[in-house]
Formats: sequence, structure tokens, C-alpha cells
Amino acid sequence: MTGIAVLGSTNMDLVAYVARAPEPGETVTGREFRTVPGGKGANQAVAAARAGGNVTMIGAVGDDVYGAQLRAGLEHAGIDTDLLHTAEGPSGTAHIVVDDTGANSIVVIPGANGTVTAIGPGEMAAIAGADLLLLQLELPLSAVVEGARVAHAQGVRTILTPSPVLPLPSELLDCVDLLIPNQHEAAALTGFADPLAAARHLLSQVPAVIVTLGAKGCLYAARGGEPVLFPAPEVTAVDTTGAGDTFVGTLAVALGERRPVPEALAWASSAAALCVQRPGASASMPYRTEIDAA
Ligand code: RIB
Repeated sequence: MTGIAVLGSTNMDLVAYVARAPEPGETVTGREFRTVPGGKGANQAVAAARAGGNVTMIGAVGDDVYGAQLRAGLEHAGIDTDLLHTAEGPSGTAHIVVDDTGANSIVVIPGANGTVTAIGPGEMAAIAGADLLLLQLELPLSAVVEGARVAHAQGVRTILTPSPVLPLPSELLDCVDLLIPNQHEAAALTGFADPLAAARHLLSQVPAVIVTLGAKGCLYAARGGEPVLFPAPEVTAVDTTGAGDTFVGTLAVALGERRPVPEALAWASSAAALCVQRPGASASMPYRTEIDAA
């Protein structure tokens, strides 16, 4: 089994489903409200576990009712939560509006995630013992950099999802093996709206890049090769929340199993396509048998 450490966020997603998202200053009546476990780190952990990975979650939840629910959800998915600390105060929350096209907008309140400013010996050992480390940017940057450094020094492959996007210091980029921005994040990081131009630019900073393009698929680029566009399966989306995380978590398992990149990307794209056809973040992530069948 691929050993995957995830150093990342755990949020409770408070999701409003509406015909269309409100404009600034406008009030709209929604159709439905759901409370769903989420957080980019936890989502990637659940996706990887359901795809067949042996996953350790590193981070923090609050000492509130959400914290207990989030931990239980991860444990139910078979994820090791020994390094998921319980901090005083509220858990992270994400306030999400999903419209009738399945598109979302998200405000994240970090809560307990904001307490993870550094990692200790236990976290370092877990990272060193993994095959891959998954990172995002919903924890304080200091911890993300430290985790990436430990992994890099131990030869553990690192995958960074630069979301929510912010300028990436070279000390972090130097330790990243695969960067997976969506096209908005790629544009914000490089100044190039064209994903191909953005990917080429990012290759000067990291060895490999995947720019995810939503329904259009993804663009894979690695040093020494030509960028390749991989289309996504055509499906009708009801909720795209967590689709990117599903893609990353599933891809990590496939790469850990040393599958060829095209096969790994096709498998991860199938998983993301299954995810968008169901509501919620982690709740909508497919199991390995479903991905294989798709
Ligand atoms: O990537 C989707 C996730 O972003 C949601 O689950 C939400 O918690 C935010 O972190």
C-alpha cells in the first residue's frame, strides 16, 4: 500500500445550495443547507484512503463538536489520526455557496488549522516514513515549509496544491516535486492566463506541474518533455467542491503504485468526475472499486 502523509487542514463545510450565488449587497433564498466534513487536507486524505492508500493525517481540529465529528469521519475512512491534534477553540470552517451549475465559492475560517505553525518529532517521523507527502496552503506557511523540507531531505515525494493561492517562497518550491494548481491559481502564481504558458513558467521552479482545468481536464508538464493535455470524462456536475482534492489524493495513490503518468492521470480524472456528480466534499469521494469501474 502506498504510504501517504497529509499535512493539511480539516474544516467543517457549511454549504448553501442556491440557484445562483448572490452579488455583493444582494440577498438570495437558497434551496438546501448541508454540513459536510471538508478541508483541503482532509479531503485529499479521504480521497487517498478510499483509493487504497495507507494515510496519516497531520493537522489540528478544535475542541468543539465539529472537531469530534471531523476526527470521527477521518477515522471511519481508515485514516490514522494520532497526529491530528485537538487545539483549544473552534475547528476550521468553510462557508460555501454552490450554484445550479455545480460551481462554488468558499470562505475559509482557519480556526484550529491556524494553530499548526510548526511540526514536531512525531510529525517528522511520519513524513519520513511515507512514500508521498501531500501539502496545501490552508495551514500556516511555516508548517508547510517545514513539512516539505523534511520530506525533501528524506527523499519523500512532495505534491503541493497551492490553494488558497499565495506567493510561494523559493524555500518551499525547492522542496516540491509536483505542483498542482487550478488554472486560476496558475495564473495568479505566474501572471499568465494561458495554462500552457503558466505551466512552462512554473517548470522553471518545480520539476513537474499539473494545471487542472475543471471539465476540460488537466495539463501535465514535466521538465524535459512536451506538455500534454488530458481530457476529463464528460459528466453533469452537481457540486464541484472537493473535486480537485479528489484528483490529488487519488493521483498520489496511483503515483505511489508507480503507475505510468497517463494511466495515473486518467484514474484520478475518473475519480474527480465521480466526485462532482454527488453533493459535498469528502462525502462525495469515490472508492477504489468505483474508480476502477468508471
Ligand atoms: O477544496 C475544497 C475544500 O476547500 C472544502 O472542503 C473547504 O473546506 C475548503 O477548504
